[in-house]
Amino acid sequence: MEVTNKYIVIKHHIEDAPNDSHFEVKNEAFGLSINSGSDDVIVKNLYISIDPYLINRMKSYSASHNAISFSTPLTPGQAIDAIAIGKVVASGNVKFVKDDLVMGVFTWGEYSVVKEQSIIKKLESSEFPLTYHLGVLGFSGLTAYGGFFEICKPQKGEKVFVSAASGSVGNIVGQYAKLLGCYVVGCAGSQKKVGLLKEKLGFDDAFNYKEETDLNSTLKRYFPDGIDIYFDNVGGEMLEAAIINMKAFGRVAVCGIISEYTDAEKRASPNMLNIVYKRITIRGFLAADFMNIFADFSAKTSDYVRNGQLQVIEDKSLGVESIPSAFVGLFNGDNVGKKVVVLAGE
Ligand SMILES: NC(=O)c1ccc[n+]([C@@H]2O[C@H](COP(=O)([O-])OP(=O)(O)OC[C@H]3O[C@@H](n4cnc5c(N)ncnc54)[C@H](OP(=O)(O)O)[C@@H]3O)[C@@H](O)[C@H]2O)c1
Repeated sequence: MEVTNKYIVIKHHIEDAPNDSHFEVKNEAFGLSINSGSDDVIVKNLYISIDPYLINRMKSYSASHNAISFSTPLTPGQAIDAIAIGKVVASGNVKFVKDDLVMGVFTWGEYSVVKEQSIIKKLESSEFPLTYHLGVLGFSGLTAYGGFFEICKPQKGEKVFVSAASGSVGNIVGQYAKLLGCYVVGCAGSQKKVGLLKEKLGFDDAFNYKEETDLNSTLKRYFPDGIDIYFDNVGGEMLEAAIINMKAFGRVAVCGIISEYTDAEKRASPNMLNIVYKRITIRGFLAADFMNIFADFSAKTSDYVRNGQLQVIEDKSLGVESIPSAFVGLFNGDNVGKKVVVLAGE
């Protein structure tokens, strides 16, 4: 049997801020059966994770391109691979059968042909909505958990600052920090997001960074005695201001630098004397570094969600045509929590 598969491509490399016109919907005839002898798996994509790191793969050059297989450059006109959840339509691989739910690296499209090594795991029946496995119980959650607990080594009572705090990773970091007993301040790009952080997610305080003219004094206002831990999602001026306000022996976990992804001229240049004299540790990391603690992360986080101690914030769009604007929206602050595109129900 054959269907029409709609999928998204970039028309050309994207060197600065993305917009809808950089993308194109393509249609192809797509066979739903497996050729004999092939071990391919054909997957109908149900939910697609929308993630900022893809912008760096869309550039003609990025320092990230040669780092790991996840960050290789994308070719204009070709299907875009991304983390997704889908249902097996047909399988030449004995490990998978029709109707299995699977999570892995599929495509920004309705159907994908997948090799076994691209499937991260089979999703057995879950007590939680499937989309949680893309966000709070998936890579966003693992990034938050590993970055906060392994890199920041937090102690109860410490003062924690989180940027892009209403986003997928940031909101979970802030909630973990509160569960541990830290004092937590987040920044986000609108008053509505600030309200969510304070009223629903239990942050001690929050501010709209777009309304602040001097980030250094803003952080001094929220942390008069200094910051122990800065979980950085944005880089740029916010990182510079945080470094000025760190306490001695403070830790900065550099999860991402989204403000620099779309502006080739922008580079944080923190005051290095602060780093020397305050003995600050700044460390980058990747979620993939924490696969060894996935079981621990998953068990603890599932408990928190089950017991209502951790709120799950998702932001869903519908249909393959909405993928470009869902992605573009990440760089305009349109999303609140984990951005997911729903292509089909289970
Ligand atoms: N190291 C890893 O393995 C790993 C894994 C996942 C994500 N990350 C990184 O973590 C960060 C957050 O990712 P996410 O998936 O959780 O995305 P997200 O926070 O859900 O979405 C991106 C958010 O970033 C904020 N933002 C966009 N442009 C900005 C700018 N110029 N300045 C300040 N804030 C800006 C926006 O919120 P506002 O309204 O607050 O502006 C937007 O909603 C990104 O830097 C991403 O690359 C790293």
